[in-house]
Amino acid sequence: LTSERYGVQRLPFSHLSDGDFAFFESLLPGRVVTDPDELRTFNVDWLQSMRGCSKMLLRPQTAAEVSEVLRYCNQRNLAVTPQGGNTGLVGGSVPVFDEIILSTALMNQVISFDKVSGILVCQAGCILESLNQYLAELDFIMPLDLGAKGSCHIGGNVATNAGGLRLLRYGSLRGTVLGLEVVLADGSLLNCLASLRKDNTGYDLKQLFIGSEGTLGVITAVSILCPRKPKSVNLAFLGCQSFSQVLGTFTACKGMLGEILSACEFMDDLCMTLVESHLTLSRPVTGSPFYILIETSGSNSAHDEEKLNHFLEHVMASGLVTDGTVATEDKKIKALWSLRERITEALTHDGCVYKYDLSLPVERLYDLVTDTRARLGAAAKRVVGYGHLGDGNLHLNVTAESDSRSLRDAIEPFVYEWTARHHGSISAEHGLGFRKKQHIEYSKPRGAVLLMQQLKAMLDTKGILNPYKTLPAAP
Ligand code: FAD
Ligand code: MLT
Ligand code: ZN
Repeated sequence: LTSERYGVQRLPFSHLSDGDFAFFESLLPGRVVTDPDELRTFNVDWLQSMRGCSKMLLRPQTAAEVSEVLRYCNQRNLAVTPQGGNTGLVGGSVPVFDEIILSTALMNQVISFDKVSGILVCQAGCILESLNQYLAELDFIMPLDLGAKGSCHIGGNVATNAGGLRLLRYGSLRGTVLGLEVVLADGSLLNCLASLRKDNTGYDLKQLFIGSEGTLGVITAVSILCPRKPKSVNLAFLGCQSFSQVLGTFTACKGMLGEILSACEFMDDLCMTLVESHLTLSRPVTGSPFYILIETSGSNSAHDEEKLNHFLEHVMASGLVTDGTVATEDKKIKALWSLRERITEALTHDGCVYKYDLSLPVERLYDLVTDTRARLGAAAKRVVGYGHLGDGNLHLNVTAESDSRSLRDAIEPFVYEWTARHHGSISAEHGLGFRKKQHIEYSKPRGAVLLMQQLKAMLDTKGILNPYKTLPAAP
């Protein structure tokens, strides 16, 4: 094991001993993975850009087991990386060195669901799509949706404060998560698993763990408020000739669709070229430099369709939109959503991907793509822009035939400086993980970072939880 990886020095954590293997095997019989072949996929992140060298993966089933694991690791000074579905995009979910991987995969039970309040309580390892399927039978949905739904865990979603495709309608997890059960680094169990809409008794501790990326505690269960399943869903796929027409369409849909608007996403023409060439999907509308997906969800299909038609007539007549199609049946809706949701996957087939996830004032969102494209010229294979238009969240991605220091130097810190100059955030929804932790000061004042480091030191005195992630090393 080398003492340095990715420019980071291994901290003086203990190395696993035979006694440790014996302890974990007796605590979690048959649920300790040490086979190097089996460990490989858990050591590598979804983007295949980071590779750890953990020698052990643990699969607890209960919060009590997680508590025993962490109590032991804390005493022994063993570092731990919590892992859900391993779909994170910032290198937070895999070890950097030999940290033990603590997987929530077997913590996949629904604990309760209340049909009156819509409050779901479940273990952290439930897969987002499975929860959505479970709820659909009861006429409810999860308040979040993302392209990684088939693999990501609700605990991972909360740990990253994932945004996704429905945030525009149902808000962030900071509002929909009502309670959490968390195991702290020393093994103590924090039960804040309330199922109350309102609770002003002291500080809202659960907020500390939402978006903490496994650095402050291991989330073992989640209480979350789920909306009713909409009776009527429509999806419009529209082509625009310029980004200012995209903005005009966005403004119009907010005004004209109002309370039934449930998603507003955009992607540029190059994104569509990528999904067509690498995934053989086909777009229903061609010939536009920009496309928008507008989804409505409501309770009355006649009312929703009338509103949507009104809106479409307006944007077509005013020239904001030049072409488009509308889907109302499930199969076609899914096919249209694939064009947007699978851009991430298509990018990985295009070469080496440099991935950025920025919050920006919506009027300037695409200027960063244009400026980056002009700056990189032929050094990049493609520079594409897509994202959650309704949330002011741009996904800027650059592809190249291979990883190159000079290309990365041309992109960074340019992208971060550009974002800071426009008072944006260098991580809108993916988190900082390992890849972006050094750049936190583009979006947070030094005093805020210092306070975060103090909180980390207080909750995890030995620093065993997901070391090397989220925060730069304390001074
Ligand atoms: P992991 O990747 O396993 O872990 C992510 C981080 O959370 C790590 O730091 C890990 O240590 C920590 N963690 C995981 N579980 C726990 C736990 N129980 N307790 C404490 N810490 C934990 N993100 C968005 O925000 N919006 C999107 O639209 C979106 N779309 C995506 C589409 C694709 C195709 C892919 C591959 C990713 C996408 N992502 C998106 C990123 C990713 O899916 C999310 O960050 C997701 O929430 C991660 O969940 P996970 O279970 O895979 O977590
Ligand atoms: C998305 O919105 O598709 C995700 O955040 C993933 C990505 O940025 O590629
Ligand atoms: Zn996204």
